[in-house]
Amino acid sequence: MNHLVSPSILSADFGNLQRDIEMLNNSEADWIHVDIMDGVFVPNISFGFPVAEVAKKHATKPLDVHLMIVEPDRYLKRFAEAGAYGLTVQLEACPNLHRTVQVIKELGCRAGVAINPHSPVALLDDIIADLDLVLVMSVNPGFGGQHFIENTYKKVSETKNLIEKRNSKALIEVDGGVDKTNAGKLYAAGANVLVAGSSVFAASKPSEMISALKHA
Ligand code: DX5
Ligand code: ZN
Repeated sequence: MNHLVSPSILSADFGNLQRDIEMLNNSEADWIHVDIMDGVFVPNISFGFPVAEVAKKHATKPLDVHLMIVEPDRYLKRFAEAGAYGLTVQLEACPNLHRTVQVIKELGCRAGVAINPHSPVALLDDIIADLDLVLVMSVNPGFGGQHFIENTYKKVSETKNLIEKRNSKALIEVDGGVDKTNAGKLYAAGANVLVAGSSVFAASKPSEMISALKHA
């Protein structure tokens, strides 16, 4: 059984980013989630290439890059060069999603597609066989620390069913409001990877929280 944790550095201390990334290196974290927000696709701006490059410089774990930006095609190559292991684009930002996914793969990255809380899983029907990852958003993207949307469990099981139906190898990742109270239930519904920002970085012992989420 694949139970992975991808802590989001959106909730890290940017004045001590190297320290926080080293904490993740020494924890049971599997990936490091890097949230890129452009202030257009979502109502918030996070950070861009310089911070992603710092993460790459210090991380010993794969960078799981989540692009919450319009026209992601314009920047895929730069994020691949910045060291992304996986590149996840938002379905709602991609009118030519199949092409975008092919480009991500040609760049040598794992291809992920995120769906917002209002987007039905069925929209992935004709792309899921090509994906390495489906990211089910469990909050409306844009901010850390938001409340988990309960409908996510249903969407995770629908995604799992679609993956089986289409013989896809995609992993299911969940992002937003993930904590100790919902992690076990998300894995049970079929999630493989849990993203966690505030629950990890607000914990008194972040690396113990990562282990708790991984073994929930
Ligand atoms: C939300 C981002 C998340 C965020 C999660 O728009 O995509 O990755 O960092 O933060 P928490 O875990 O605090 O909801
Ligand atoms: Zn994210």
